[in-house]
Amino acid sequence: MIKLFLIFLIYSVIKIGRIKNKDEIFNLNVEDFKRHACIFGMTGSGKSTTMAIIAYELMKNDITSLIIDRTGEFRNKMIKLNYSRIYYPGYNLNLSPFDIWEEENFEERIQKYLWLLDEFCKITWKENLSPLQNRLIFQALYRLAEKGGIDFTSLINECRRIAKEELKLWIEAAEAIASRFGLFSIGKFRKAFANTSISIIDNIFEKGIHVIDLSNLEYEAPKNLFSLIISNLIMLKLKREGFSNNIKIAFMIDEAHNIAGKDIKFGLIEKIAMELRKYGMSLIIASPNPSEINPRIIANAGLLISHQILSSDEIEVIKKHAYTSNYYSGFEEIISNLKVGEAFIRSIRKPEGEIIKIGIDEHSFLIV
Ligand SMILES: Nc1ncnc2c1ncn2[C@@H]1O[C@H](COP(=O)(O)OP(=O)(O)OP(=O)(O)O)[C@@H](O)[C@H]1O
Ligand SMILES: [Mg+2]
Repeated sequence: MIKLFLIFLIYSVIKIGRIKNKDEIFNLNVEDFKRHACIFGMTGSGKSTTMAIIAYELMKNDITSLIIDRTGEFRNKMIKLNYSRIYYPGYNLNLSPFDIWEEENFEERIQKYLWLLDEFCKITWKENLSPLQNRLIFQALYRLAEKGGIDFTSLINECRRIAKEELKLWIEAAEAIASRFGLFSIGKFRKAFANTSISIIDNIFEKGIHVIDLSNLEYEAPKNLFSLIISNLIMLKLKREGFSNNIKIAFMIDEAHNIAGKDIKFGLIEKIAMELRKYGMSLIIASPNPSEINPRIIANAGLLISHQILSSDEIEVIKKHAYTSNYYSGFEEIISNLKVGEAFIRSIRKPEGEIIKIGIDEHSFLIV
């Protein structure tokens, strides 16, 4: 019995690095990842490397990670592991926003597609669809769904057709829709958002480290849409499977301010942060700009990892949302003086926090 307990203890350890100025290894454990985590730090301070180390360590505990990589930083790190898989939108992974919620009834499904497109607009242009655009898209989706498949080309054509043939007033709205979504109907973007690759979601839950490399999507808009679709698919799968005490997947979003921005109230990523813990998801976000992240996500994080930040405005945001004044009046000095690869880590178990030199010898292949 004692032996079993010891084995459990050893295996739930997540080695992060060494405590600064001490020759002591610093460990987190799997439990520390049950509430969502935030990784901050200015450009080049070590955020993505820390994320990669966490994914590697979670994998040693049999926990699968899915990393949304907007800039292509993870490919070179992860390719060295034989249990990692890299996905490239438009090549080995396609996701359609119109292939989700298939078990819902017809009208609810249409409503959800519309909601997804609206959230995409909010995230990308800080602007909702107008009421007129909303109605037009709803009608177009409704007719297309009755006929069979939907894609962006048919959606835009149908909006134009309805506007022109039936309600001439709506032509402007149809053109606004075409300018928002037109990119998704051409070339590699059309491919990336065509039909969802069969059983992709089941593959992503298979043991390993899965990296979705969005760098070839080039622009913010397609990267945002792809991220939203995958987030929805994961959320659906976890909810379908029901509550879980164990972490089933670590969902890591690098450069998360793009899709979890502060202007998006009750957006998808906030919802995931607040709700999916119960279903076995560990959400880990990274961003250079805490001020751009939804403050409720920062305020509720169980784990805070901050690399160096020089801007006092950015440091203030972390302090405001994640700290009470009892801890570290010298927080700003600590954060601004960290070196590359060092981070201040605060967990629920250790709210006073500690300065850690991230990485041990075993991780050196990830620090590139
Ligand atoms: N733990 C570490 N130990 C030693 N060097 C590190 C460590 N982490 C990062 N570095 C060095 O700093 C460089 C930048 O790290 P990384 O790409 O992780 O930063 P980042 O915060 O993700 O930057 P960006 O915001 O530009 O994406 C790495 O290429 C590596 O040389
Ligand atoms: Mg990075």
